[in-house]
Amino acid sequence: MRRKVIAGNWKMNKTVDEAKEFLKEFIPLVENTENEVIICAPFIALKCLVKHTKGTNVKIGAQNMHWEEAGAYTGEISASMLKSIGVEYVIIGHSERRQYFAETDETVNKKVKTAHANGLKPIVCVGETLEQREQGLADEIITKQTKLALDGLTNEQVENTIIAYEPIWAIGTGKTATKEDANNSIKKIREEICKIYGQNVASGVIIQYGGSVKSSNAKELFTTSDIDGGLVGGASLKPDEFAKIVNY
Ligand code: PGA
Repeated sequence: MRRKVIAGNWKMNKTVDEAKEFLKEFIPLVENTENEVIICAPFIALKCLVKHTKGTNVKIGAQNMHWEEAGAYTGEISASMLKSIGVEYVIIGHSERRQYFAETDETVNKKVKTAHANGLKPIVCVGETLEQREQGLADEIITKQTKLALDGLTNEQVENTIIAYEPIWAIGTGKTATKEDANNSIKKIREEICKIYGQNVASGVIIQYGGSVKSSNAKELFTTSDIDGGLVGGASLKPDEFAKIVNY
């Protein structure tokens, strides 16, 4: 049985003080869960969040990083910087980064490799646009994105990568994919991983669903055969709502 992993993606929200306030309310609400809980926060809040989640079951992730180890990349953050403050996860290739910051399958792959080289676990986002879904291209797009993101990784690295299937039309829109559609898309991603890395890896890899997950739909999504939890944006900003999703 694969574990369930519920990750919050705060995007560009919350000051350090607001992050600390969130934890005070959130940690007691999720202390009895068997699910893995991750908060992916803005860079400046990470150190404080790591400190205040020590000894709890809440883990901390970043939302991006650069693929180079160091150098003249103004404004960027490296994997080793994240690792040095106790960050364990990093979201790579979120659709907002692909759309607004020109991330490509190639840079996503470079970042995934650098994350692993530094002992960070990547949460790699893949997903189709509405137009692509309507044209019947969704499966092709998401399996290609997955294959390119994981290209050149060892079996062990793939096992330590989380994939988040996030149909772009469902992100922040209130439109959630049906549990059948989401589960089928995730099955396709798992089949692709099976083709390249074998059944053992494919049946162990965590694949989340993301896109307007909330407490009212978490249970139906997370109790399907292939959806191993969620990447949660808007609904992860409120401690009680996010806790309800974790405890679905
Ligand atoms: P949403 O965002 O839950 O607000 O739709 C999900 C995401 O972008 O990861």
